[in-house]
Amino acid sequence: MAGNWKMYKTPSDTTAFFEKFRPLVEKTEHCEIVICPPFTSLAAAVDAARNSSIRVGAQNVSWAKEGAFTGEISGPMIVAVGATHAIVGHSERRQYFNETDETVLKRTQAALEFGLTPIVCVGERLEQRESGNTEAVLVGQFQEGIAGLSAQQFAKIVIAYEPVWAIGTGKTATPEIAADAHRAIRGQVREKYGKEAADAVRILYGGSVKPDNARTLMAQPEIDGVLVGGASLDPVGFASIVNF
Ligand code: PGA
Repeated sequence: MAGNWKMYKTPSDTTAFFEKFRPLVEKTEHCEIVICPPFTSLAAAVDAARNSSIRVGAQNVSWAKEGAFTGEISGPMIVAVGATHAIVGHSERRQYFNETDETVLKRTQAALEFGLTPIVCVGERLEQRESGNTEAVLVGQFQEGIAGLSAQQFAKIVIAYEPVWAIGTGKTATPEIAADAHRAIRGQVREKYGKEAADAVRILYGGSVKPDNARTLMAQPEIDGVLVGGASLDPVGFASIVNF
């Protein structure tokens, strides 16, 4: 169960969130919990999550270890602050910051190289769904991006299916629509990496997940977890999603 805070919450907001959130998930054992704050709040989140099972992730990671890349943050920097995960290829990165399948692959490989667990995002835009191209888009994103990983690398990633039309719009994919997409992605995994890898990979659903729809989404066997944006900003709401 992952929370993506996007460009919200300062370090003090982060500390305040954890004060309320931690006790609400103290007994939670059925899942891993990852919170992904902005880079500037990573240290505060790691501090606030200490001695709990809550993990902290970044929202992006550079493909390089270091160098002249103004504005980028590298895997070793994220690891040094105590985070363990990194979201890669979020649709907002693809849409506004020219992230491509190729850069998604490079960032994913860098995350793995430096010991972070990448949460790699794929998903179609509204016009692609309406023109009947959802599966083709997902297959393309898989083939051009994720499929560049070795089997050993692939075993360490988490995939997030996030239909762009469902992100921040209040329009959740129905559990059936989400499950269909997850099946298509898992089918690609099976073809490329084999049945065992397809059974083992965790595919999260993201896009307007809320406390009142988490349970029906999670009831789909294809859906292994959720990546939550807006609703992860509220400690009580996110805890009730985690404990669906
Ligand atoms: P949302 O965002 O839950 O606000 O729709 C999901 C995401 O972009 O990760």
